[in-house]
Amino acid sequence: DWTMAAFKDQAIARIRAQVGGGRVLCGLSGGVDSAVAAALVHEAIGDQLVCVYVDHGLMRQGETEQVESVFRDRFNIQLVVRHADDLFLDALEGETDPEVKRKTIGKLFIDVFEEEAKKIGGADFLAQGTLYPDVIESVSFAGGPSVTIKSHHNVGGLPERMNMKLVEPLRELFKDEVRDLGRELGLPESMVGRHPFPGPGLAIRLPDQPVTREKLAILRKADVIYLEEIANAGLYDAIWQAFAVLLPVRSVGVMGDGRTHDYVLALRAVTATDGMTADYFPFDHAFLGRVANRIINEVKGVNRVVYDVTSKPPGTIEWE
Ligand code: XMP
Repeated sequence: DWTMAAFKDQAIARIRAQVGGGRVLCGLSGGVDSAVAAALVHEAIGDQLVCVYVDHGLMRQGETEQVESVFRDRFNIQLVVRHADDLFLDALEGETDPEVKRKTIGKLFIDVFEEEAKKIGGADFLAQGTLYPDVIESVSFAGGPSVTIKSHHNVGGLPERMNMKLVEPLRELFKDEVRDLGRELGLPESMVGRHPFPGPGLAIRLPDQPVTREKLAILRKADVIYLEEIANAGLYDAIWQAFAVLLPVRSVGVMGDGRTHDYVLALRAVTATDGMTADYFPFDHAFLGRVANRIINEVKGVNRVVYDVTSKPPGTIEWE
């Protein structure tokens, strides 16, 4: 007789037994896994938990504010927010190589996280939202041939360096179970049901071009419109991930009696169960036309919108 409420009670007991009177640090990303891990650990040990959220300037519209309002204001969790956009954008300046972008962001992320951890006097434990599929993946990849196509960042290495033990209360759960647990813990649906978002954020949605504030602003505006239309059409939960990609290509257009020479924006939406394979989402044409119209009218700098009909394989979900 297995229910999420029973799992929650057991997990809380285990966390208390493991942690005792120790202090726990947890990195929030804005994603589901770290949010659920933090809410669970907080229910278990309250103010022995401190969360750290690093805003690398590559988040979507309103994401940082949502993390603050949910964790600090509603859950009363001790939360350190570090605004580090200048640091990250300076480090990324002029960079076009996707793997260098990822490594730059990943390394800086760990540095900044460690800095904040030291500022608050360190901790005995690091809580992470590691899921069962992550456990399997890291076991089967360990020591084997390099089969990861894109390097993913996490705070690997940090627990040893700072002498912290890991607390991983979600290690037995799959994604849909983590979502149920999040609901059980009272996290808002907008956080629990949200699409996955990559650690390097919008930096990898500007393929083959340097990251600039101007282009990030275009991506954010287009993304809001696209996701708003998806939600209005009742399609959000049927889609694994949907996002906009700004291409490093300008095309000619007409607007009023003038010619425009602006960027092309690609829309991506896929269905998947774990992200290892994916199918493009079959939007109807009226929907696509509506979104394209809104983006071209409302987002300065974009005059052409295309829809990506590539599945995975052979494509990947992200463009770089
Ligand atoms: P791909 O593009 O490899 O993406 O088909 C599979 C899933 O992984 C996400 N993704 C990343 N997540 N760091 C992350 O944390 C990354 O560098 C990264 N690259 C891709 C992608 O959004 C999809 O969910």
